[in-house]
Amino acid sequence: MSDAPRSDDEHADPVHTDAATAWWRNAVIYQVYVRSFADGNGDGVGDLAGVRAKLPYLADLGVDALWFNPWYASPLADAGYDVADYRAIDPRFGTLAEAEALIGEAHRLGLRIIVDIVPNHSSDQHEWFLEALAAGPGAEARELFWFRPGRGENGELPPNNWKSVFGGDAWTRTDNPDGTPGEWYLHLFASEQPDLNWENPKVREDFEDVLRFWFDRGVDGVRIDSATMPAKDAGLPDFDEAAPPFPHPFVDRDEVHDIYRAWRAVADSYPDPRALIGEVWLDQPERLAAYLRPDEMHTAFNFDYLNCAWDADDLRRVITATLAAHAPVDAPATWVLSNHDVTRHVSRYGREDSSFGNNGRQYHVATDLDLGTQRARAATLLSLALPGSAYLYQGEELGLWEVDDIPDALRDDPYFHRTDGEVLGRDGCRVPLPWSGSEAPFGFSPDGATAAPWLPQPAAWAALTAEAEDGVAGSTLELYRTALRIRRAQPALGDGTLEWLDSPAGTLVFRRGEDLVCAVNLTGQSVSIAVPGELLLSSGGEVDGAGWSGELTAESAVWLRTSR
Ligand code: GLC
Repeated sequence: MSDAPRSDDEHADPVHTDAATAWWRNAVIYQVYVRSFADGNGDGVGDLAGVRAKLPYLADLGVDALWFNPWYASPLADAGYDVADYRAIDPRFGTLAEAEALIGEAHRLGLRIIVDIVPNHSSDQHEWFLEALAAGPGAEARELFWFRPGRGENGELPPNNWKSVFGGDAWTRTDNPDGTPGEWYLHLFASEQPDLNWENPKVREDFEDVLRFWFDRGVDGVRIDSATMPAKDAGLPDFDEAAPPFPHPFVDRDEVHDIYRAWRAVADSYPDPRALIGEVWLDQPERLAAYLRPDEMHTAFNFDYLNCAWDADDLRRVITATLAAHAPVDAPATWVLSNHDVTRHVSRYGREDSSFGNNGRQYHVATDLDLGTQRARAATLLSLALPGSAYLYQGEELGLWEVDDIPDALRDDPYFHRTDGEVLGRDGCRVPLPWSGSEAPFGFSPDGATAAPWLPQPAAWAALTAEAEDGVAGSTLELYRTALRIRRAQPALGDGTLEWLDSPAGTLVFRRGEDLVCAVNLTGQSVSIAVPGELLLSSGGEVDGAGWSGELTAESAVWLRTSR
């Protein structure tokens, strides 16, 4: 993919020319959270018109593919992860015709498109769920979900003790069509997200059809949401936290692999490669690799890396374990630092505990943004030099940080509301992007917009707009552009192997291919690195073109061209 031809011919589709390319093996994939990317119609919410206008910016940034968070018709109870119709675009974002136009335009710029498919649950406004509610207990329509009578004398207690990921019970009681209290339904996330029953063939068939619906429109891959969760123990046994049952009643069950084998067959039925990418939120690389067997997903997000603290030994351990787990299944590793669910890494790395726990909790924590920014820039050069593919989350190329002072009344995340504010939730990483100008909405919405951005932007982002950073030597945007340009020109930086080199404590130094070296200093002092070479790029103090002294400044990374 890296050298995909660019073309202005409106009929050319340069990304679909090479049927043999397993493009996901070294792609850099940029995550577009549509709602907060760019607002084309001035209603304060990002939309497809906004994205289409910015496609040249994304092509110029140098990424290979765009992953879109759910853009489907949805009540947005969980920001679109509550899908009411998997084949329609939400009117707030645009139309199906606009999505089709976007796919074509992106392809002509050499950008592939990945859509987000949510198999574990639908929206409570999905027609299947509305039918199931209306049909009442015992009806076939209810078998597409997990309806059960309650426990207790009058069914007033939930059917089992499972908890929602977002807090509270994983069950909500329904009313019967005649208004009397009825059965409960399972939702491992918010109550507006009823879990689908994957034992039912209609669910399986419909999702395979949804995959074909999007692949037929030229989509190059799907990101599979909450991929470990769709299969459940149909007996719905209580979960014993002290002695977790094995296999787990709703995570990582053997049956879940059947689903993805069938999806892989759908993907493989296309002549040009379509990727299956899993959100496999597990902290053991070996368990993750089980999803990457040759007839299942192609790649999965690496949460171990994302969760890891800014610590040389911990990172080396995670990188080594990741590569070791992926090698036997011949799947490429992935490297990701931020996404729409986690604290932005500029903020994480500016905190005393710089890890991000698997529990996904976000609180008010003292944060040194200057330190976090330095480390984030170094981490970017680290990620982009590791073997495999990498994910970027919109706005990280501008150096954006987590916004943690959003007023409670404006918070939208069900995680915040279902925990009564105990967990701040994920709104802080979802604030609309700053594009230009010196005050909000920073070009996110056009002149004459009828509404403010759906979440308020910090005034200090005036210094971090794409316009302010464009062409400015040393800006984070230019660091990303240069890194991506070098990576594209040097295939050795993508798929392949890595060789660790001896280096002082608190540093990571490794070779890629014959002559490229990445060196990272995770300490607060400058460190001598005994690797001679030519400086290609630096995240820190060294001036490009000034040569490589062998001295790596505090909290920084370099890419070198060297000889053995
Ligand atoms: C995934 C998504 C997250 C969503 C959840 C439920 O973890 O990334 O945003 O809330 O699944 O669909």
